[in-house]
Formats: sequence, C-alpha cells, structure tokens
Amino acid sequence: MKYILSPSLLSADFTALDREIKVCEDNNVAYLHIDVMDGMFVPNISIGIPVVKSIRKITDLVLDVHLMIVKPERYIKAFAEAGSDIINIHYEATEDHIGVLKEIKKLGKKAAVTIKPNTSYKDIISLSDYVDMFLVMSVEPGFGGQSFIESTLKNVEGLAEYRENNGLSYDIEIDGGINADNITSPLDAGANIIVAGSAVFGKGDTAEKIRKLNGIIDKYNK
Ligand code: DX5
Ligand code: ZN
Repeated sequence: MKYILSPSLLSADFTALDREIKVCEDNNVAYLHIDVMDGMFVPNISIGIPVVKSIRKITDLVLDVHLMIVKPERYIKAFAEAGSDIINIHYEATEDHIGVLKEIKKLGKKAAVTIKPNTSYKDIISLSDYVDMFLVMSVEPGFGGQSFIESTLKNVEGLAEYRENNGLSYDIEIDGGINADNITSPLDAGANIIVAGSAVFGKGDTAEKIRKLNGIIDKYNK
C-alpha cells in the first residue's frame, strides 16, 4: 500500500495555478485533487472541464478529480477526455453506480466512489469490485477550510477492515479538514491517500507545508 498526499487545488491561487502546481511538482507530490462542484449536489460552484483540460496540459501529476455533481453519468466522457486520471463520483449523486463505474473503467481511467459524512461505508462495499479507490469525506462537501469530523473515521476503519478481510487492494482516500496536527488519525485508521487543501495552499509557505505533510505520510511508506 502506497501512502500519498493529494493536495486540493480548491484552496490554491486560481490566478497562478501553474505556479502552485510547480511547487507541488518540485516537492515530490504525486497527485493533484481537483474539486468539481455544480451548485446542485453541493451549495457551491467551483471549476469544470476547461480547467481540468488546462491543468492536464501543464503537468503529468495524477489528476484525482472529485465530482460533486448530480448525475455524474452525464459528464464522465468529458472529464475523461479532459485528462482526468481518477474519476471520483459521489454515491449519493446517482442511482446507476455500477454503470457509471464501468464507463469510467472502459475509458481507461481509475474509478472511485465517494461518501458524504452521514453515509455509511456499508452502503458502498458491494461496489468494491468496480473501484480502484473509495473516498471518505471527513467534512460536508462544498467548501475548503472546514473542521475534520472525527466520526467519519469509522467509515475509513470499516473500509480498511473489509479490504483486509477480503484480500482486496482498493485505495482509501480521505478528504476534508486534514492538517499536520490531525493527519495521523486517518492514516492510522487505514486511509492511504490524504487530501489537504487549506493545509497546503493559501497563507504561508506551500513548499514547507507540503514537506511537513509528506514527512509524516512517508513514515507510513516504510
Ligand atoms: C470539499 C472538497 C475538499 C476541500 C478540502 O468539498 O472536497 O477537497 O478542498 O479542503 P480542506 O483540506 O481545506 O478541508
Ligand atoms: Zn475533494
């Protein structure tokens, strides 16, 4: 199991995405988490297909695209063609989970299912054959900079236990409210891909913040 930091660009400076991404590349970041919001599934609107396409042109980092949109089946092809590497759909956003996941895989992309804090991991384990990753939200989706919801760790633990008991290998990603002070709790619970937005970008030295988070994450890779 590889432990990886996935910085969320939602808190980056949108006027200087090239510079923000370069700092990630220069500091051993492998993934970039891109939050797509439609103003319906979540009460916020962020970025969409043209921005993913532009980012794809300037980096080879793994684009970890988190779709917070109603009926993601409408846009899978577009996000795949824009250059996403991982396409995350929300369990709560569609009825046709297996159909959407199959489409993502058919397009040659990694497929992931995300759950909101009040959805149980038990609702998604039946999808484990169709995914490369499960994403556990540790805040209500929609905004960066919120506080980590401790009770969501039970979803990470449940998914880790199921993975272990069934000899499976899906990644477990966690997203929301994670910083250098609380990052070990999701790692200890079994998450191996850690999203961090406001703890990476915004105020302060981004490079230094990445190095600090990576320093903690890398200990789990040993
Ligand atoms: C929230 C997004 C997150 C967000 C995380 O809906 O899915 O990826 O950017 O931001 P922080 O790390 O600041 O909670
Ligand atoms: Zn996200």
